[in-house]
Amino acid sequence: SDTVLREIYDFALELGQNAGQMLFEAAQKRMSGELQLDEVEKLNSVDIVTQTDEEVEAFIRQSILEKYPDHNFVGEESYSKGSSKDYLIDDSPTWCIDPLDGTVNFAHLSPFYCVSIAFLLDSQPVIGIVCAPFLHQTFSALRNHGAWLNGTTRLPLQHNPVPPLPPQAPKGCIFSCEWGKDRRDIPDGNLARKVETFVNLATELGGREGKGGMVHGVRSLGSATLDLCYVAMGGFDIWWEGGCWEWDVAAGICLLQEAGGLVTTANPPEDMDSAPVPPVKLGGRLYLAIRAVGDSEGETGKQAQ
Ligand code: IPD
Repeated sequence: SDTVLREIYDFALELGQNAGQMLFEAAQKRMSGELQLDEVEKLNSVDIVTQTDEEVEAFIRQSILEKYPDHNFVGEESYSKGSSKDYLIDDSPTWCIDPLDGTVNFAHLSPFYCVSIAFLLDSQPVIGIVCAPFLHQTFSALRNHGAWLNGTTRLPLQHNPVPPLPPQAPKGCIFSCEWGKDRRDIPDGNLARKVETFVNLATELGGREGKGGMVHGVRSLGSATLDLCYVAMGGFDIWWEGGCWEWDVAAGICLLQEAGGLVTTANPPEDMDSAPVPPVKLGGRLYLAIRAVGDSEGETGKQAQ
């Protein structure tokens, strides 16, 4: 029921903030030299896990287990270690978390990293909590109740004027994509090919052939979760990545949907003007997100109940 979901939301929000505080303190200790980076490679030298990832995941996992022992738990580090019962998302109540999204940024002490906590029903994220402690940003969303920044600012932000969105008016958009961690020389994992696809998309939408305008910029933050939050805010217009896991996107998808944006697990349709955006299905590796479309009165997004 709505009341039970609200209770779970309150619990998840507090959990996200406490876990965010753990990240904040670990980063501060590293800045002062008190804590050494203790990183281990997973698939390759860019796919790393730090002691902080593991400590924060253990804290989140334990807290959920104590409060909701019957819920499923899917966490990035538990999965990597092979201790998750089943990493695939099924229809039962499931927590899908990334204790530290943007681990490479954390390793370099670049501030774009966060805790990402999602709660799913029927394989759909209905609660999303994202806490980026060094940016002082906490994003939260509850199905049918909207998406919020720091608890008080409703998303999307009410730009004035609301910038136009591709493809009707591509002029002035910001595109964001991620490089991922796969460095193998295979079609699906080839970094250069991924970036080429993205840049082509940006160029097409940006109106190279007189379609009316240039993109303002292409960004790559290093955290898929934060990318989705920024599309939810309206700070980014489009985000694309071909190589995500469920925990990289689950919370961000809830945020984006509650902010009126669209996300799909498909390649961009050839004709984005008329093609319907297929519904998102967790478990794909490829995601495309588009922020809320403003209407002619300048309103953005749907309003939550
Ligand atoms: C990674 C980040 C990165 C994205 C990768 C993810 P992690 O998550 O979100 O931006 O490109 O696909 O795996 O390992 O830092 O939690």
